[in-house]
Amino acid sequence: MKTQIFAPDEITAAAATLRAGELVAFPTETVYGLGADATNEAAVKKVYQAKGRPSDNPLIVHVNSVAMVEQYAAEIPAAARQLMAHFWPGSLTIILKIKPGVLSKTVTGGLATVAFRYPDCAPTLALINAAGVPLVGPSANTSGKPSPTTAQHVYHDLAGKIAGILDNGPTRVGVESTVLDLSTAQPVILRPGAVTQADIEAVIGSIELNHHQVKQDEIPKAPGMKYKHYAPNAQVYMVRPDADWQQVKQWLQEQAAPVGVMATDSILQQLQLPATDLTFSLGTDVTTAAHRLFDGLRTFDHHPTIKQILVQAFPATGLGLAYMNRLNKSAGGQYFKY
Ligand code: TXA
Ligand code: MG
Repeated sequence: MKTQIFAPDEITAAAATLRAGELVAFPTETVYGLGADATNEAAVKKVYQAKGRPSDNPLIVHVNSVAMVEQYAAEIPAAARQLMAHFWPGSLTIILKIKPGVLSKTVTGGLATVAFRYPDCAPTLALINAAGVPLVGPSANTSGKPSPTTAQHVYHDLAGKIAGILDNGPTRVGVESTVLDLSTAQPVILRPGAVTQADIEAVIGSIELNHHQVKQDEIPKAPGMKYKHYAPNAQVYMVRPDADWQQVKQWLQEQAAPVGVMATDSILQQLQLPATDLTFSLGTDVTTAAHRLFDGLRTFDHHPTIKQILVQAFPATGLGLAYMNRLNKSAGGQYFKY
């Protein structure tokens, strides 16, 4: 299959492809999603196939109105309505009880709940509008790899396996949406993202954060949490926020094999590491770092000999919590030790 690149004004053609039951990756403000008509079971099955995704890991349903949620959710609690009014369009995914019989088990992995997201990205909202149906959209990467923040990342992973990619340039946020479970009495954040716990609590009061580390044999709350995630080819090591980078530099100089380094400009300058294909700038702060993290990890996959990548850690607060959640998974929990 030839994978067609659609420009942001080629919505009609991209929507027709989706209506025909084919897959079209779409941009959002967080990462690119792998789109299919959420009401077409055969199309949704293709999503799991193209990604190599385990079929018990449910998909987010992307909508462009609260009215669309009402078609598929059993009920929308008052707290959900308040959050939708505050954060939609935006990076907050809300899990609600599903209305029986309206979406196939393939979408929800057989759960009695479904995740809804209203992305803040005009071409994709136009795409949903033109398709006339909600779109499932897991991140448009091969399962286990870093999420895609450009159309090129999607093309690298899925060319030949999907019909098209709607290219809107690099995404703005860079890490996936916050996933909030509102299907139970006590709301719980299942995945941290750009909308923080404090942001949510400012609207609906106290909520929980799921810090539980899921083991392979448990049934996890967010099924995606049990799989290997965000892993580039090389082993990633996190470098603690308070690390002595002069020691890191010394260690780097002792290595025979090339090592990739991802850090802010100020640290790269402080280290006086020349800008080579072994360094990747995370910009100035945690916001730019979140925006660039996946791109950096993917960049080193194209380097033939790098077996290790050191990546600067940030304090796990605000957006830093989302950044560290992704980085920690890509590193398999490993910190740099000297
Ligand atoms: O920013 C994002 O959320 C991106 C863009 C494309 O919208 N999408 C994304 O989808 O990250 P995905 O499938 O890669 O991650 C969705 C996460 C998974 O961990 C999945 O297990 C969880 O949400 N999830 C989906 N439906 C769920 C449900 N009903 N109950 C619990 N967890 C759910
Ligand atoms: Mg994903």
